[in-house]
Amino acid sequence: GNPAILPTPPMGFNNWARFMCNLNETLFTTTADAMKANGLLAAGYNRLNLDDCWMQYSRAANGSLQTNTTLFPHGLPWLADYVKSRGFKFGVYQDSGNLTCGGYPGSKGYEETDARDFEKMGFDYLKLDGCNVAEEQGRNLEQEYKYLYGKWHDVLTNSSSPMIFSQSAPAYFSGGPDFSNQTNNSDWYRVMDWVPKYGELARHSQDVAVYGLYNVSQYWESIMTNYGYEVLLARYQEPGFYNDPDFIISDWPWLTLDEKKSHFALWASFSAPLIISAYIPDLTSKELAYLTNKDIIAIDQDPLALQATLVSQDGTWDVLTKNLANGDRLLTVLNRGNHSAVTNVDLRRVGLRQGDTYQAKDLWTGNTKSIKNSINIKLPSHATAIYRVAEPSWIIPTGMIFNTASKRC
Ligand code: GLA
Ligand code: GLA
Repeated sequence: GNPAILPTPPMGFNNWARFMCNLNETLFTTTADAMKANGLLAAGYNRLNLDDCWMQYSRAANGSLQTNTTLFPHGLPWLADYVKSRGFKFGVYQDSGNLTCGGYPGSKGYEETDARDFEKMGFDYLKLDGCNVAEEQGRNLEQEYKYLYGKWHDVLTNSSSPMIFSQSAPAYFSGGPDFSNQTNNSDWYRVMDWVPKYGELARHSQDVAVYGLYNVSQYWESIMTNYGYEVLLARYQEPGFYNDPDFIISDWPWLTLDEKKSHFALWASFSAPLIISAYIPDLTSKELAYLTNKDIIAIDQDPLALQATLVSQDGTWDVLTKNLANGDRLLTVLNRGNHSAVTNVDLRRVGLRQGDTYQAKDLWTGNTKSIKNSINIKLPSHATAIYRVAEPSWIIPTGMIFNTASKRC
């Protein structure tokens, strides 16, 4: 990961989870216009990422990928100009294997060609998927991923303009019981030996449930599944390399507002990518309000880019924390249970001292209160509390105040 090209996690839009292959030029121009008008661009969501299914089923005679011009009648360089003139950056999807997950031509053997074409078309961000990768003579599957992603890393490193490299490969190794285990020589451990060096982002889990294809309960479950993988990986994250638990899904009728806000607050606590997959013009004022919450975005975009760690999991309560660049501490509390409940969090659990009075800012309401020793939190089912906790301000010792006063007398 290169902190010079991605010092904090990316923010923006991707069509996949909401629209899958139902993408076209109008979706992207409409999205750009809407994000500019509704404050998302101003809040920091400055990337539009094209996902799978933008190309034709075959390459041109010269080897280049061909854009589906029925979907994108003006072509992608035109669309790149359109979104850039409105203040956005533009990202593209390709696959490292023979075919994309959607069955379009993959980049295997065409890395150089595709990289040059993406550069010319105006992209500065590549999401490289891992479907349809097969063992090669002399290389097992894991070695083949390393080989293909390494090739892309070299090609992108040698390009004239820097390209952010978002890697899907680790997701294809996840799921084993030894996922976080560094003491034995697990697949995951070996994969994470090269992935953080090759690119800026790494997917590690299944796709967040796509729009409309699942049972109601599966949407929240998919968020919690990816959350569960993410918490195992805090050790790998650093500025320039971010674990990627997949998209923020916002205009979805199968999630409650509390669940959507939790999703957002948890991903921000992780300093995870905030890539929204939604029909942006239809976002409600409540959805826009949480997505543009400046204090929570500041947690995501904190210069340390630390991933919050899970410090306790008692019953239905998860407590997470991390240090922030200015010396404050984050306190995030999730009620995973199905009922409204109350908990009392001992401040020592998040590295704070007993006996001192701290200022805790509730990042949902903006209200600050004094806390000492512990904090009492009441939350509805699947809701998340998120506080920014400041050290006690320096207090003049009583003796000094006395001396000053006596001098005046
Ligand atoms: C995989 C990825 C998704 C999306 C689709 C496209 O499933 O994980 O994010 O890119 O492929 O086919
Ligand atoms: C499926 C998904 C991929 C990836 C893998 C991980 O194939 O489509 O995006 O998440 O699972 O095993």
